[in-house]
Amino acid sequence: MLKWWQKAIVYQVYPKSFCDTTGSGTGDIKGITSKLDYLHDLGIGAIWLTPVYPSPMVDNGYDISDYTGIGDMFGTMKDFDELIAEAGKRDIKIVMDLVFNHCSDQHKWFQESRKSSDNSKSDWFIWRDAKPDGSAPTNWRSIFGGSVWTWCEERGQYYFHTFASEQPDLNWENPDVRRALYDAANFWLKKGVGGFRIDAITYIKKPAEFHDGKPDGQDGTINVHLMIANTPGILDFLHEMKREVFDGHDIFTVGEANGVSADELPQWVGKDGVFDMLFEFSHVDLPFNDAEIWCYPRKWKLTELKSTLTATREATKNSWCPVFFENHDQPRSVNHFFPSGYDTKKSAKVLAMILLTIRGTPFIYQGEELGMTNVSWEDINIYDDISTKGQYAFALNEGFSPKEAIKHIQFFSRDNSRTPMQWNAEANAGFTSGKSWLPVNENYIDINAEAEAKDENSVLSWYKKLIEFRLKKSHEVLTAGSYREIFADSEEIFAYERELDGEKIIVVVNFTDKNLKLPDEYFADKRIILTSENNFDSSELQPLEARLYE
Ligand code: NOJ
Repeated sequence: MLKWWQKAIVYQVYPKSFCDTTGSGTGDIKGITSKLDYLHDLGIGAIWLTPVYPSPMVDNGYDISDYTGIGDMFGTMKDFDELIAEAGKRDIKIVMDLVFNHCSDQHKWFQESRKSSDNSKSDWFIWRDAKPDGSAPTNWRSIFGGSVWTWCEERGQYYFHTFASEQPDLNWENPDVRRALYDAANFWLKKGVGGFRIDAITYIKKPAEFHDGKPDGQDGTINVHLMIANTPGILDFLHEMKREVFDGHDIFTVGEANGVSADELPQWVGKDGVFDMLFEFSHVDLPFNDAEIWCYPRKWKLTELKSTLTATREATKNSWCPVFFENHDQPRSVNHFFPSGYDTKKSAKVLAMILLTIRGTPFIYQGEELGMTNVSWEDINIYDDISTKGQYAFALNEGFSPKEAIKHIQFFSRDNSRTPMQWNAEANAGFTSGKSWLPVNENYIDINAEAEAKDENSVLSWYKKLIEFRLKKSHEVLTAGSYREIFADSEEIFAYERELDGEKIIVVVNFTDKNLKLPDEYFADKRIILTSENNFDSSELQPLEARLYE
């Protein structure tokens, strides 16, 4: 028997960019509530809300200064309670983001900890003495660039941060820290949330000894990810969190697990694991080198994309996995997975077909259902994202010209997916009546929810069609069925079979911009049920066509 979250479609909302009801230029919780009918109509069963807690917003909410509050810019706890209640009326659960590897340097825990080495919170963060020459304890580079160590004059020590210096890492070795975090998560469970997405979870355990690593950049530093991700012993912490928080609730948990490979998944998810699902990044990371340095992208082949998606499914055969192509940290998928110049509308339909028919719980990121695209700003000052700025500085340091550096930014920047949601063709795409915190993508006149709702060939209409098809009781094969990849060697098509109790569905998508003849011996006796190109009676796939057969 499948659980509710194995059948549901999850929709990720990035609140700052979703819908502004006050004219402040940033989205708010009331804005999300006002769009619940839109989400219900789409067929959504849960909303993953990226952080809405109080935060100085250095990393757009992933720097939390109070784990059990609502940030003023997003509204009030009353607004949140109303969101849960209104969502509940439409059978939509609200899933919170737990950011437990680090908090904000403005959190009262850190404010206390930084004062001295003998206060009540002195051991809640990771403090180390300087090297004898006064320099930082190790040469590790933080994920956003710069050292992982920041000197604190007040305490006369360095503190550790995997991300920005405003995001000090919590010391998970301290049981009081863990208790405080579990209490915070339980606070939200009492409010009736439907689950948790757990941020940056592979970093919570640090190695026993901190020592320099072999540099991977020109400046003598090494990406911290390579030094701390998935340190042995991490699963003991997570099993404890499962016992203390997750167990016994009808919720789902999905961990963000950069650094866990497909073959390690069974330890992390399912009966013997800690989470229900894990975001594993091998498919979105294909354009990166090992250290995920944007300015050295690599070319990848379709067979690589297919084999990562298949490997995840093989590794979670006896458990479960999410399906996603976008989130607030990734470029827009139509730009990420297709060469420039390809029709983005058709590309979006191809990915939608996979998202909604491959085995796993689909996670749609806001605007993905409209086929929203990357922006291509030329000026680094227009960008807001801290990681983008860090990558730009890193590229200049590596000897790239500003023009070359911007080219990488245009492709990879997290701001690509953070531009405001495109609701209609009015000013600011209907997102705000004020001045938007981040510019709206100029293509909102064509790509927007209102226009697409009226166009039966739009990306949005295609999403609705696929979701409706998937949610039909008679199509349980798409949720509960097995998954088997076919034509695995093809560099042109991605195809697979889903099967349940003798019922079989076949999905085939054309990843090229050419017509493709399908092998008759396999397809001749199959019936086309859905096609993104209204192409029901040809054995030839049109460019970027997505098809479903019975
Ligand atoms: C992953 C989040 O998705 C990202 O947006 C954030 O910057 C880092 N974790 C740090 O919390």
